[in-house]
Amino acid sequence: MLGGPLTPESKMAGLRSFISQFNSQALAIIGALTVGYISLKLLLSVLRGIKLYVLSRPLGLATNLKKLGAWAVITGATDGIGKAYAQQLAEKGINIVLISRTLEKLQNVAQEIETQYKVKTKVIAVDFTKGVEIYEEIEKELKGLEIGTLVNNVGMSYSYPEYFLEIPNVEKFIPDIINCNTLACTMMTKVVLPGMVERRKGAVINISSASGMLPGPLTTLYAATKVYMDFFARALQIEYASKGIIVQSVLPFFVTTKLSRIRHTSLFTPNPTQYVRSALGTVGLEQRTNGCLSHSIQGYINELAPEWLYYLVQGTMFRNVRALHYKKMQREAKKKEQ
Ligand SMILES: NC(=O)c1ccc[n+]([C@@H]2O[C@H](COP(=O)([O-])OP(=O)(O)OC[C@H]3O[C@@H](n4cnc5c(N)ncnc54)[C@H](OP(=O)(O)O)[C@@H]3O)[C@@H](O)[C@H]2O)c1
Repeated sequence: MLGGPLTPESKMAGLRSFISQFNSQALAIIGALTVGYISLKLLLSVLRGIKLYVLSRPLGLATNLKKLGAWAVITGATDGIGKAYAQQLAEKGINIVLISRTLEKLQNVAQEIETQYKVKTKVIAVDFTKGVEIYEEIEKELKGLEIGTLVNNVGMSYSYPEYFLEIPNVEKFIPDIINCNTLACTMMTKVVLPGMVERRKGAVINISSASGMLPGPLTTLYAATKVYMDFFARALQIEYASKGIIVQSVLPFFVTTKLSRIRHTSLFTPNPTQYVRSALGTVGLEQRTNGCLSHSIQGYINELAPEWLYYLVQGTMFRNVRALHYKKMQREAKKKEQ
């Protein structure tokens, strides 16, 4: 064959062998690059996790919020995550404005904070399910305070997972949840941000939810309002970073609070104190965070898993919770009849 004439058949055979070799080499390179990319991403995530959740607190890597201003404002400050932010910011020597609905609860928490942390407090009793009319009064109450930190924490959710049209009292529930979860964070930011921009320093922390990472069937409205909070924070950060403002979007998974109706802590469900201690360690380091190590791992899995699997797991869980709710209602109705 050597030096002999090439027939069309032998040319084709040569070409086929070349293509097949090229294909297997290309596949090997693509495979190696994919494995390398995933390994590098995983390594970077692990290193970031170590920085945020292991080194940040002992080394004081997070932003020193006291340096941003003498006061912090927290909405939904008398329970759960909001109360933990109020306590832990007070622990740093920051004066606290607590805003929630119930005056008596506000006064009790304010008293606790003043006694324990020797800082000043101010309380504002307001219902955030109301519309824009409430913010003029809030603005008056906050006038003259050097506010360095705003925690947009207030939020409401479903009492049980439900289909959109079957939500009890849906005509009232719609404006209530939109006002409480989206209007409140928008208007509170509108009230507080000008002072921060003037002083060229401040932090706005939005407590969104991991429910806002993907659409949430059977908690549709809640998830939709939480996406708003997340996007609002992320875009605002881009607009105001150059003015010295930090805007952080926090997306917790379950925390043991009245809202979640979970009482016992577990590996993946911290209590509000544990959760906020960790989340505060990320301010200034992470613009968007699940807040603590166990929630970040859940967030990572959520992002890697296919969406259909997420909907399957979440849908099954929520339909079961809904069924249990209806069974409970039936039992209670039977008891009343007897
Ligand atoms: N817990 C979780 O698992 C979880 C997970 C993801 C995201 N989140 C988010 O974290 C935030 C805090 O939730 P949480 O679980 O800590 O709730 P929580 O324990 O139920 O506390 C809610 C706080 O908000 C106040 N509040 C409720 N409705 C209000 C209204 N209409 N007007 C004014 N204040 C109101 C409550 O006080 P009053 O009742 O006296 O008004 C209380 O201080 C929410 O935005 C929630 O969506 C929570």
